Amino acid sequence: MTILPTIFVALTLTQASLMLFAQSFGGPPRRPAAASTFAAAPLAKDDAERKILDVLDEMDRSQRRGTMSVPRDDGRLLRLLAEGAGVQHVVELGTSHGYSGIWFCLALRTTGGKLTTFEIDPGRAAAARENFQRAGVSHLVTLIEGDAHQEVTKLKGPIDLVFLDADKEGYADYLKKLLPLVRPGGLIVAHNITAGMADPAFIKAITTDSALDSVFVSVGSSGLSLSLKKR
Ligand SMILES: C[S@@+](CC[C@H](N)C(=O)[O-])C[C@H]1O[C@@H](n2cnc3c(N)ncnc32)[C@H](O)[C@@H]1O
Repeated sequence: MTILPTIFVALTLTQASLMLFAQSFGGPPRRPAAASTFAAAPLAKDDAERKILDVLDEMDRSQRRGTMSVPRDDGRLLRLLAEGAGVQHVVELGTSHGYSGIWFCLALRTTGGKLTTFEIDPGRAAAARENFQRAGVSHLVTLIEGDAHQEVTKLKGPIDLVFLDADKEGYADYLKKLLPLVRPGGLIVAHNITAGMADPAFIKAITTDSALDSVFVSVGSSGLSLSLKKR
């Protein structure tokens, strides 16, 4: 799995945000324009991609309130990580309305992989099913309704990428249960890893295990951790 280029892109984005922040306070001299200066909407390569991006655009416009979906650039990063690494099985904790799940599906339709996603709230699970249907990606998705802390114990490996975006205080428990199923070379990506939101138990777990290498990145106002399960 070739994850280094994708992690490099993420880190570059972080450096770019820090440079811009520093410049606004009269910090270091201006470097050549950073990638984020040229941020632009994703461009569809074909009709199939257009159909999915249209659904994501519509969700951005009308389904933001109450869904707690990741921001669009985080979704793009998830797609980039999954497609760049050629993942076969993504496990997502916290489906909500399916926004991040659809970004993963943009990758999975090209890698031939599948998404297993967990949601405890029946209303959100129903909305996600409808959105997966509208985007034409239902065949790539298994949505499991219920408490993921129990439901993940029924999963079988190997998992290529775990995306943690459910109850923040549950991340350490999800990691404990899922890490044995993640294949060597696989990734654990966690959302809302900011000073105010990250659970110290999870941070400790991903930074003190020598079988993992973890980096922390920011995309816009979001914070994520990316952990590699070493081979
Ligand atoms: C931040 S939202 C997920 C957003 C989604 N990943 C996206 O970006 O489109 C968190 C979701 O996790 C769900 N959740 C919270 N605790 C859960 C649990 N124990 N099991 C399954 N889902 C849970 C919530 O109902 C909520 O819909």
